[in-house]
Amino acid sequence: MHTATVHLDTHFNAGKIDPRIFSGFLEHLGRAIYGGVYDPGNPLSDEHGLRRDVIEDMRGLRMPYVRYPGGNFVSNYDWRDGIGPKEDRRPFPDFAWKSVEPNTFGTDEFIRWCREVGTEPMLAVNLGTLGPAEAAALVEYCNLDTPTHWAQERRSNGSASPHNVRMWCLGNEMDGPWQAGHSPAENYALKAMQAARLMKGMDPSIQLVAAGSSGRALPTYLEWDRTVLEQCWDDIDFISAHRYSRNFQDDTPWFLAEGVEIDRILDDYAGVISYVKGVKKSNHDVHLSFDEWNVWYKDRRGNGEWRTAPALIEERYDLQDALVCAQYLNAFIRRADLVKVACLAQIVNVIAAVLTNNDGTLRQTIYYPSAMYAAVARGLSLTPVVEAPRYDAGDREGVPVIDVSASFDEETGETGVFIVNRAVDSDTRVTVQFADRLVMGAGSVQLLTGDDPKVENNWDHPNAVMPQEGTATANGQALEITIPALGLAVVSGVRTERR
Ligand code: AHR
Repeated sequence: MHTATVHLDTHFNAGKIDPRIFSGFLEHLGRAIYGGVYDPGNPLSDEHGLRRDVIEDMRGLRMPYVRYPGGNFVSNYDWRDGIGPKEDRRPFPDFAWKSVEPNTFGTDEFIRWCREVGTEPMLAVNLGTLGPAEAAALVEYCNLDTPTHWAQERRSNGSASPHNVRMWCLGNEMDGPWQAGHSPAENYALKAMQAARLMKGMDPSIQLVAAGSSGRALPTYLEWDRTVLEQCWDDIDFISAHRYSRNFQDDTPWFLAEGVEIDRILDDYAGVISYVKGVKKSNHDVHLSFDEWNVWYKDRRGNGEWRTAPALIEERYDLQDALVCAQYLNAFIRRADLVKVACLAQIVNVIAAVLTNNDGTLRQTIYYPSAMYAAVARGLSLTPVVEAPRYDAGDREGVPVIDVSASFDEETGETGVFIVNRAVDSDTRVTVQFADRLVMGAGSVQLLTGDDPKVENNWDHPNAVMPQEGTATANGQALEITIPALGLAVVSGVRTERR
């Protein structure tokens, strides 16, 4: 048994946790839309073709926003092909995933789906093969109440009131050579700035995310971001970051140290954002939108061979993947000052929390960390000081055996604690104490764990990995909890009072 201590102090915090860090991402890719969220004719679907069982699962994730329609898909997508009477919509060849896009699901269908789920749309515009004018026309279509062409079109298509889309992404991964319309940073930055000005000219209340680096491995990493920030600083609210974690060496201790890399990326972005703000002597703030994150390395099938809704990148997730996902969420919470939006990529069928077949849905292991955290993390992000044994795993050295974040809800006075035990064969006894408060009530504990890092949920065993009730104790001075090896504990409703 390992032992560890977590020191908290409510005065020592990273500010308010933005609930938008629990957002998701849905792309026209593989079976995410067709056969995923949209399945007309299936008895499980409603009169609009929306799968009711999928909607139910999505509600459990409590996502404030869902980013759509891509991803790589958006960079050669014309939103005008996906609106209006369905019989007039024509299929088109999707450059990104070499698939046939039927266009029977578009902006209006997505907004309807969002309303059913209880989430808000975060729309990405095409800055690959289209430009600022088409982006601004989409803002007009969605948000304006004017007697003008695109606003009228929306009304004719059945939505009298504006959709009121608040969050918009200025393209996707434009630094990547694989992206339709990929260009040098300077060119993208100019186009993004022009689009931003036109779009905010239509609706000044919207918030904009410029496309940052698509990954740390790219040679332009951070230089791309600096260029974009310098050009667009006053016109944007966020810059994006993306990461997909991999375990190609099949090395669980190394993989479970992934949080160290996530922290490093957040440090990188904190640095480049501060640098540009400093150089500009600006009072404006730009935050981080980590709008694609997940584990993805097992299923790389990205070529649809011009089929409609082919099964592409349907990654199967196991327990260790879920423990890595929990570390993303811990990192975002710890850096609440920096990360205001984050999107689990993705949510249905494609590298997804939920899989569908004709008869129902399957919640994969990675569904649970997001659901567990979103239900509990509220208020201030307390900055944890962790005393724990450390381990070395390959190039990842001195890794604390636990990864921790904590929240403090000033309204209810309740604390939430989120702890991953990275140890593969040892439980960890954790003492959580506050410098400024006594711990009067232990609240309740949800554990996600298993005997084998590779255990997964499948159609025969859909509940092999799911939250179970655990226990914690409060003795006035501290909260005591034992986290099983390969375990995640989410402690909610911890009651404290001033010392
Ligand atoms: O989420 C799958 C793909 O990963 C997205 O389309 C792209 O933005 C990223 O490279």
